[in-house]
Amino acid sequence: MIITIIGAGYVGLTSAAVYARLGHTVWLLECDEKKSQDLKNGIIPFYEPGLKELVGEVSTLGHLKPTTDIKEAIREAQLVFICVGTPSREDGSADLSQVETVAQQIASHLGRSCVVVNKSTVPVGTAERVQSIIKRSRIDAQEIEVASCPEFLREGNALHDLLNPDRVVIGAASEHAQKLLIAVHDQLPGQRVVTDVKTAEMIKYASNAFLATKISFINEMANVCELVGANIEDVARGMGSDPRIGSAFLKAGIGYGGSCFPKDTRALSSIAAEYNYDFQLLKSVIEVNQRQRERFVEKIQKKLTTLSGKVIAVLGLTFKNNTDDVRESSAIDIIRLLRAHGAVVRAYDPVGSQNARKIMPDITICPSIETVVKGADAVCILTEWNEFQSLQWLESIPPAKRIVFDGRNICDVAGINLPGTFYMSVGRPDIRIT
Ligand code: UGA
Repeated sequence: MIITIIGAGYVGLTSAAVYARLGHTVWLLECDEKKSQDLKNGIIPFYEPGLKELVGEVSTLGHLKPTTDIKEAIREAQLVFICVGTPSREDGSADLSQVETVAQQIASHLGRSCVVVNKSTVPVGTAERVQSIIKRSRIDAQEIEVASCPEFLREGNALHDLLNPDRVVIGAASEHAQKLLIAVHDQLPGQRVVTDVKTAEMIKYASNAFLATKISFINEMANVCELVGANIEDVARGMGSDPRIGSAFLKAGIGYGGSCFPKDTRALSSIAAEYNYDFQLLKSVIEVNQRQRERFVEKIQKKLTTLSGKVIAVLGLTFKNNTDDVRESSAIDIIRLLRAHGAVVRAYDPVGSQNARKIMPDITICPSIETVVKGADAVCILTEWNEFQSLQWLESIPPAKRIVFDGRNICDVAGINLPGTFYMSVGRPDIRIT
């Protein structure tokens, strides 16, 4: 099949590479000339395990074709996927200006039986809106169908998730569009959920909001565990082994971040409000998530008596491991809070330093774990990178300064045995080795 992906961001580029790997001819339309040229030269604009290799492979086979030329990109396409950004506006609602601009730009170039598909996370009714923009701009008044096929990939696991979806959600009005969308995914496993367009748009928000709810729930449980002296890891294990609950997304910590959960929970809350519905539960989920970061800093402050002038070594800047993305990262928020309390912060991250510098230009970044922890008054683990797990680096710190605040509960507490160590995590009893 000949398809076009518009936008070479996370969803667009990873999806393009995977559709190309499935044997489709994929035009990847990206308006940024440099980005498009870089892609032709095998340069990937972000870190995603395995993506560089896959892009190289499918480009060599001629299956992936980056371009900035709209006409060339969509002339023969049977499916055109819109994968541009839908960032938050100031009021929390989704900013659809990029989607609308794309709709205007492509309208007159689309073939007659082509189906336009929204892959970006968009509020209910966006497909209708795109359809009316396209209709307005076409002289032949040919009705082009707009469908929805939301993406559920996780950053850091994108290729695996795209090649092994649990479900493929297809929201389309006509049999023609449904058939095309079923055909383009026919080599992939997972359930097919074929439904109407608005429902498909809602499934995406509902999924992200529910996962965010699980995280805020387990974080509140962790806070109560701290008060009563219980252990959240075992509570999560005990709860999660009930298949009605499930063990995924029950990892307590410093709250969710990234380019999706914060934005999508705000957008869903705002969609509900637009229809005069007060989505109280979701509003609490968002509030708990923010509070979890503040609470973590309060606990550090309590332990160190004051943060003023204290040197804090931060391990991890990205919003989770296996990505260089720092958007709405809990780590960045916590650094801001630590600094606001007078702490001197320096940080280390295996791949996120460059992006962190863009949003926090004055941040002190160290090249390794050993250098960042040297001479620090305490160490904070803020991202769940595997290399932080073993606590071997504690040996290089004098006993009186072996103070660790683990915001991700990644360290195996059974392995903590160095004299002088104080270890505090989230929802688990503190550990002191004398
Ligand atoms: C999320 C969803 O998981 C994807 O299904 C969805 O496609 C994507 O958003 C999107 O809408 O595009 P992503 O943001 O890449 O994916 O990352 P997740 O792995 O879901 O993690 C989100 C945040 O939650 C991270 O900060 C992570 O550290 C945190 N988290 C996750 C927890 O604090 N506890 C958990 O148990 C799980």
